[in-house]
Amino acid sequence: MNNPSDARKKLIILAALTGVIALLHYATPVEPHYYHKIHIVLRKLYFLPPVIAAAWFGLRGACATALTVSLLFILHAFLDWPGNYMEQANQVGELVGFWVAGGIPGWLFDRQRSLLQELANANEETLLGLVSALDLREHNTRLHSQRVREYTELIATRFGVDEKARREISFGALLHDVGKIAVPDRILLKPGELTEEEWREMRKHPEAGYRMLKRIGFLKEAADIVHAHHERYDGRGYPRGLKGDEIPLGARLFMVADVYDALTSQRPYKSPLSYEEAATEILNHKDSQFDPAVVTTFMAIAPEALRLIAERYQDGNYPEDNPAC
Ligand SMILES: [Fe+2]
Repeated sequence: MNNPSDARKKLIILAALTGVIALLHYATPVEPHYYHKIHIVLRKLYFLPPVIAAAWFGLRGACATALTVSLLFILHAFLDWPGNYMEQANQVGELVGFWVAGGIPGWLFDRQRSLLQELANANEETLLGLVSALDLREHNTRLHSQRVREYTELIATRFGVDEKARREISFGALLHDVGKIAVPDRILLKPGELTEEEWREMRKHPEAGYRMLKRIGFLKEAADIVHAHHERYDGRGYPRGLKGDEIPLGARLFMVADVYDALTSQRPYKSPLSYEEAATEILNHKDSQFDPAVVTTFMAIAPEALRLIAERYQDGNYPEDNPAC
């Protein structure tokens, strides 16, 4: 899907291309014979803008462009209408050709976009089902990962991350604990303190998650975030002890979001902290646990924006929790 600035750039390129073709077509004389050949080649170039518009904007864009080139072509034909019947028929045929050259690929590109969107939706639903099951197993809530994903996306947007990277970071945040599927229940759900050996087992989950996701084409970048989601800015995290900018940006953004969610969520063993208490806690770990630039970005976010996310992803808002939905 085109974002507005991409769409504007493409529109300018398309208008410039159509304008240049029209200018050269109108300016090139039909006499002598040598120029006439160039003139006819330029006339054929009118097919180009509708095809490009079909690829960039789909059927509606292709039709609008076919209309534009048709008007330019008709105006020229009136100015220089041939006496020869066959040439007249040829020009009418070309006119129809602009619509066919734009319309058919336009329809096909629209269809392709809609199928790709359906595929993306199916992937999203599958991943949501998986993380909901994992959240339910560990936290007795289905929406922890989705909430953390939303917080991470919000921080990433304010940090100036572009759309493509934001999508990858979003998957990384959603799937951060997917490796816990390999952690036995007796460790993951143990109510008391873990032993050293149990911690060693628990600390394998970023690596396990990384190995699960790295083979899935559209989750390759997300796999790097999953791998690094327990690193710390000062290098005292795990599994690799990465430090500072060695940690992928997505993981540095996620760390703040995850801790904010942990601090402000109700858990069986603790009450939720207020925004102010959680923000102070995060500020206290700037430079040690968190990237200071990310903390600065987080602190600039209005508490209301975070509160809206928390409200939207409260348990009870999950569709299956409400049979009426
Ligand atoms: Fe984790």
